[in-house]
Amino acid sequence: MNVHIIYATMTKHTKKLADYLADSLKITAQDVEDKPNLVNTDVLFVGSGIYGGKISPNLENYIKSIKVGDVKKAVIFLNSCGGKDESKELRGLLEEKKIKVYDKTFICKGKWLLFNRKHPNEEDCMDLVDFSKKALSEI
Ligand SMILES: Cc1cc2nc3c(=O)[nH]c(=O)nc-3n(C[C@H](O)[C@H](O)[C@H](O)COP(=O)(O)O)c2cc1C
Repeated sequence: MNVHIIYATMTKHTKKLADYLADSLKITAQDVEDKPNLVNTDVLFVGSGIYGGKISPNLENYIKSIKVGDVKKAVIFLNSCGGKDESKELRGLLEEKKIKVYDKTFICKGKWLLFNRKHPNEEDCMDLVDFSKKALSEI
């Protein structure tokens, strides 16, 4: 199975989660700024922080550039100060590309200003790995 991880980040929290997940899957996580090649992707893990209630504009533009047929399925992981489920917009963008999106979303808290000062931490990263195993078996 061809699995890729892409992420968008402003303050490196999503990169930390993505790199940890990538190590567990023995692959490399790729920043959307590097315009990863996703041809023949079976499962794509997509990560972002939340900024003003939205995903990163870089990620939005990158998803819009994906060719229909290149990616079959996707799993979303987010981190934000509020830790709310803000996946609706991203889910919609992926579905517009005919990508089947896993119905559950991984969400963890991320440090912002004085909040969540120790997140994402090791436990959050391990939770993401557990979530990814479930996602890969269910999707
Ligand atoms: C400019 C900016 C705007 C943010 N807006 C929100 C927001 O609207 N809601 C929220 O829950 N968190 C918000 N956050 C917190 C981030 O989502 C959180 O710090 C996240 O861990 C950032 O991920 P990153 O380090 O990968 O960029 C914001 C952070 C920044 C820097």
